[in-house]
Amino acid sequence: AQTIALVVAAGSGSRMGGDLPKQYRQLAGKSVLAHAIDHLAAAGVGHIQVVIGPDQEALYHAAVGDHDLPSPILGGALRQHSVRRGLDMLASQGGAGNVLIHDAARPFLPKEVVARLLTALTTSQAAAPVLAIADTLARAGAALGDAVPRDGLVRVQTPQAFHFEAILDAHRRWQSGEATDDAQVARAAGLEVAAVPGDAILEKLTYEEDFVRAEARLATHLT
Ligand code: CTP
Ligand code: MG
Repeated sequence: AQTIALVVAAGSGSRMGGDLPKQYRQLAGKSVLAHAIDHLAAAGVGHIQVVIGPDQEALYHAAVGDHDLPSPILGGALRQHSVRRGLDMLASQGGAGNVLIHDAARPFLPKEVVARLLTALTTSQAAAPVLAIADTLARAGAALGDAVPRDGLVRVQTPQAFHFEAILDAHRRWQSGEATDDAQVARAAGLEVAAVPGDAILEKLTYEEDFVRAEARLATHLT
């Protein structure tokens, strides 16, 4: 089945701060968004559609340079609104077999993760990359709260892979408030989401320190 990547880049990056939303910042001479796009293309995804904020057209064009991509779709105030608008627009253009929904704020993407996701889609309607949690978890506070058992918990990354019609339908039915990813939207609609191994390098850039670490990694050619 044909696979489309929907890359959401409409956020403002409030936790990272700085002059530009993080996905439009330069990381070793290339925007974070362009890194994400290049990795998807290298993993064999031929159709890549980006969703941007209504006021981000100039930033988008500066960030993607001469990449030959379809015009960006305008997103919404919450991530799930941005995804929903992207899926609706793709549906109006005929949809796809599979869709990979990905955060623009993740500049590194091993192609093996994409392969695992697409393999999982041959037997499942949905799949997401997950990682175990190594640190102790505890309730936050100026004085540390109780530890929370980490047994049975995982961190969930993107890209997340779906049969297109299934996730479109799930997003149209979602009404439970804010969703930080699409696997939870899928599950709310009753879809089973296969868990495949994620990768530490796929980490989302959220805080300034994440950006600094990504720069250091590129400077030492560890990717
Ligand atoms: N995103 C989006 N539309 C929104 C909010 C987020 O397309 N209304 C995108 C972001 O651009 C990012 C991804 O969803 O690529 C993951 O979101 P997050 O890391 O939370 O980014 P921001 O929302 O921009 O950052 P913050 O929450 O710190 O403001
Ligand atoms: Mg956010």
